[in-house]
Amino acid sequence: MSATVRLDRLLANMGYGSRREVQGLVRAGRVILDGAPVDDAELRLTVTPALADRLQINGRRLDPPPGMALMLHKPVGVTCSHKEAGALVHDLLPSRWRLREPAISTVGRLDKDTSGLLLLTDDGALLHRIISPRRHVAKRYLATLARPLEGSEGPRFASGDLRLEGEDKPLAPALLEPLSPTRARLTITEGRYHQVRRMFAAVGNHVETLHRDRVGGLDLPADLEPGAWRLMGEAEIAAVFAPNAPTMAAS
Ligand code: URA
Repeated sequence: MSATVRLDRLLANMGYGSRREVQGLVRAGRVILDGAPVDDAELRLTVTPALADRLQINGRRLDPPPGMALMLHKPVGVTCSHKEAGALVHDLLPSRWRLREPAISTVGRLDKDTSGLLLLTDDGALLHRIISPRRHVAKRYLATLARPLEGSEGPRFASGDLRLEGEDKPLAPALLEPLSPTRARLTITEGRYHQVRRMFAAVGNHVETLHRDRVGGLDLPADLEPGAWRLMGEAEIAAVFAPNAPTMAAS
């Protein structure tokens, strides 16, 4: 049986106001469930995504209930953080969502200067499932390079012997697909700090632009513009773990 939660607590945790404010909304008839005003702020509800189809607050559809995941096309120049200076990925989401508990977190990070597919979720178990090293969820990047590839980079990245500067543990094998002398796709299964940039630095090159176009078996949708986001459905979450998604690392 699914757990239930009190309406006032649910809405307060979703950023609609303090519990007292939410109780005020209920008294004012501004919380509608299945077409009728709710008269009891302590009403217990089962939280599922479908709740957003049933509840209206202040005349508007309920925000996605807890247990949500979304994909965002991160533009260059925004930071994956809740509270650093400058433009943040969270600024691209509705402002009320900053008040949510549990908070919405990025699934791993992309550098400020990297664009592309970024997942966010308030579901801690899902987040850990995606970033867990044991799952080997592949991440695919498109890099433009300052210098032409020499031909030796692919075997070195695939070797499982490459060490990043300052680290003892070698990197798991990664797949390099050259696209032109100065453009390549690189698929990795780890998430070390600035990993792709440091991998190319380790072979004497320099990444000029970096874009992530795939996580597991989930592609960045072609119609998702930089800065735009959309909620993920079950099929998209499953695609992240798709068995045919490339996973190069041995277990
Ligand atoms: N590797 C990097 O260097 N930067 C990213 O943002 C992601 C992977």
